[in-house]
Parts: sequence; structure tokens; C-alpha cells
Amino acid sequence: MAEKSAIKRHILIIEDEPSLRLGMKHFLSTQGYRVSLCADGAEGMEAIKKGDFDLVITDIRLPHCSGFEILDIVKNQYPDKGIILITAYADVKDAVQAIKKGAFDYIAKPFSNEELLITIERFFKFQSLENEVTLLRETLKNKEGFADIIGVSPEMKLVFDRITSVAKTDVPVLIEGESGTGKELVANAIHNLSSRKDKPFVKINCAAIPEHLFESELFGHERGAFTGATETRKGKFEYANGGTIFFDEIGDIPLVLQPKLLRVIEDHAITRLGGNATIAVDVRIIYATSKNLKELVKEGRFREELFYRINVVPIQLPPLRKRVEDIPYLIDHFLKYYMKKYDKPELRISQEAYQALLSYHWPGNVRELKHAIERAAVLSKDGVITLSDLPEEISGPGIPCISEGYTLEESLRCFEREMIRRALKDAGGKKTEAARRLGISRKVLWKKIKDYEIE
Ligand SMILES: Nc1ncnc2c1ncn2[C@@H]1O[C@H](COP(=O)(O)OP(=O)(O)OP(=O)(O)O)[C@@H](O)[C@H]1O
Ligand SMILES: [Mg+2]
Repeated sequence: MAEKSAIKRHILIIEDEPSLRLGMKHFLSTQGYRVSLCADGAEGMEAIKKGDFDLVITDIRLPHCSGFEILDIVKNQYPDKGIILITAYADVKDAVQAIKKGAFDYIAKPFSNEELLITIERFFKFQSLENEVTLLRETLKNKEGFADIIGVSPEMKLVFDRITSVAKTDVPVLIEGESGTGKELVANAIHNLSSRKDKPFVKINCAAIPEHLFESELFGHERGAFTGATETRKGKFEYANGGTIFFDEIGDIPLVLQPKLLRVIEDHAITRLGGNATIAVDVRIIYATSKNLKELVKEGRFREELFYRINVVPIQLPPLRKRVEDIPYLIDHFLKYYMKKYDKPELRISQEAYQALLSYHWPGNVRELKHAIERAAVLSKDGVITLSDLPEEISGPGIPCISEGYTLEESLRCFEREMIRRALKDAGGKKTEAARRLGISRKVLWKKIKDYEIE
């Protein structure tokens, strides 16, 4: 168990009986623990002051001071570390007192290696569960506001301002941003900061529902409304009553359904499929899109009247590459999170790896950064994240256009070609999207693709 983590767990043993002390050290070392020894209470106190241990195992009866004094110090000064006491005569009174004062457990002499190991493993298991609970608690705490949305850039400050000013109202909000920029996070924050926070937050991913199921998903159906409708079912609007409904990827809602959605927005009421009754619903609607809705309107794939209904208060989440000043804060945030999750008490990032993270262009935005840090945290050895722990696209060489033999003109052309190739790749080959990312028109992009003979 101890060997699973790259960093060895450190156990401090304070025991005055040499054979027992050395025997424990030998055995625990073979089990993958790092073990330090102290022969008396004073030595033990000194070692504890350094704070460099995960667990203390101490005898109760010691020269210079007792195991109880050690227990007090550990509990007061290092409350997240563990302590196990060794009692000499299975003295129940001692043992009970030890547990009361916060020891994790006690073991009575004489004990076997097995007993010792089981107690230690139980402690580390308990500790990692405790970490998990702390994580969960923090996640819950974050539900109260937007403390979990990291950002210091002026762009993100604007986002925070918008969230604050719309949260207490019922106006529709349209969150726009590339994939992985945090649209869902923002939708959650708006709900959690609103007076509807104790009511349902219902999410609908418009890109994931098959067209023929849409209506029954949103509005529900009466029994017998269609083949297979064996029971009456409520739709998402009814479920969300009193709360918030979040339409993710609203650009993907089928064209034929758009007038129906528009009607609900205007009437604040739905009718179940196959039913006659109008049911009033009180919901706040938040929309998100990674597509440009205006473009979709122009192409006839999104109804203009719906667009105006949706686009009341827009919140734009800029891509990560346009707010690089947020990257260090995000790295720090995710690093702390995964250190706890994977139980790596010490983890830092090497200079080269840090540089690579800062200079990468993050086509997958914050989600990609988050995954990169998680992966690196898992792969890292000896408490350091190095270049080799990062995915190749991040650690690899940047754009290779600065070469000795190149003239300025050649370097610039090479750079332009690489930028275009990259934008096309990141946009999944979609030229409109690539042109948007590059900030040029489609026509100019076309011409350059031809000039540079890009596939
Ligand atoms: N500013 C931020 N601070 C902290 N975490 C963030 C931030 N932005 C995004 N994340 C995290 O990145 C991940 C992706 O965010 P989210 O799902 O909200 O993005 P999205 O824009 O909805 O993406 P998609 O369009 O692919 O659905 C989530 O794990 C989220 O917690
Ligand atoms: Mg999303």
C-alpha cells in the first residue's frame, strides 16, 4: 500500500527499547515506508518540531517525557498528522485516555508485525478518506458563490461583474465561449447566487438529445401520446419549476422545435405531448453556446426571433490564450486540488514545464489545462512535475520558425503558415472557425491556404 504513492510515507517511531525499535524499522522499511527512529522523549520532541512526518508511533512510557506529552504536541501543532500509541501492559485506562485525546489508535505490547501493519494501513486509509471529505466539503462550499471560478484578467473581471449583476434577476443569459472555457461553471454560479439556489438546476444538452425525443424531454408527455409512452412523464421544464433551466449548446436545438421553445419562453407555460392542459412554469433560463449564433441565423439554421429572445444579456468567456495572465492562477488552483486528491503532499513544477504550460496555446482551454495538470500530478515522480509528465503537444517544441539560416521574410512566412495550420487543426478543419480564431476573413484564409499549399 505504501509503495503506491511515489513519495514514501514517513513514520517517526519513538521507542526506548532498542530491539523493538530496530525491528519495527526493519519491517516497515520492507513495506515501503520511510522510517525515522528516536530513543527517548526529548529526541522525539526535537524530531517532531521539524514536522517532516506523516505518522508518529510512540511508546507511552519513555525517558524524559511521556507518550501523552508527545500526543498533545502532535495534536496541537500538527493536527492533520497521525499518532498511534504503544501501551506496555494493555492498560485499558491508558488506551482509552489516548483515544480520547485524539490518538488514532493504540497497540498493546507484545504485538506482531501484522498487527502493526494493519493499524498503520488503517490510519493512511482513514487519512485519504478524510482528504476526500475535505475536497467534497470545499466543492460544496464553492457552490455558494463563484469562488471556484479562477480568473484575474480584465476579461474575467467583466465576467464576474456580469454574473453578479444578473444573478438576482430573472433575465435570460446567454453564455458564449469556446469549448472548455467554463460556460457550465458560470451557469452554475448564476444559479447558486440567485434566490432560486435551493430549487432545481436542470441542464439540457441540446447537442445530445435525438431530435425525435426533444419535445417529450422538454415538455413531457401524457400516457399514450405516442407508441412507447406507457406512462405520463414530466418534462424538464416541469422539473425545473421554481428553479433554473440551462440549455447547453442552444445552437444545436432542431430548427423545427425553435418556435415551440419560443412559445414557452413567451407564455411561461407548457403543454405535455398528447395533452391539452396548459401547465404554468416559473423558470429562469440560461443558455450557452460554443457556436456563433449570429452566423447560424445568417445561415438560416437558427430563428432570428428566438435569437433576440435569448440574447438579452450576453456573457462572453474569452479563450484561455487571450487571457494568459489567468494561467498561473489556474495552474496553482488545479495543482492544489490534485495534490490533495492524489495524496501528494509536496508537488512542484519544474521551470521548463512551467514555461511550457505558460506558452502553450490551449485550444481546449481551461478543461485541457485541468486535464494536463491532473495527468502530470499522477505521473510525477519525487514531487516534481517535469516536461516529460506533460502531453507531447504541450511539452513539444513551439513553432519552429526561428532558425539560423532564415531571413526575416522566411521566418515570417513560416510562422504564418504554422499559425494557419494550427488554427485549422484546432478548429477541427472548419475554415469559418479557423478564420475567426485567427481574426481574418474567410476569404483571406482561403487565399493563404492556397498560397501556402496547406492540406
Ligand atoms: N475559470 C475557471 N476556473 C476554474 N476552473 C475552470 C474555469 N473555467 C473552466 N474550469 C474547469 O474546466 C472544465 C470545463 O469547464 P466547463 O465544463 O464549464 O466548460 P464549457 O465551456 O461548458 O465547455 P464545453 O463547451 O465543452 O461544454 C471544468 O472542469 C471546469 O471546472
Ligand atoms: Mg459545457
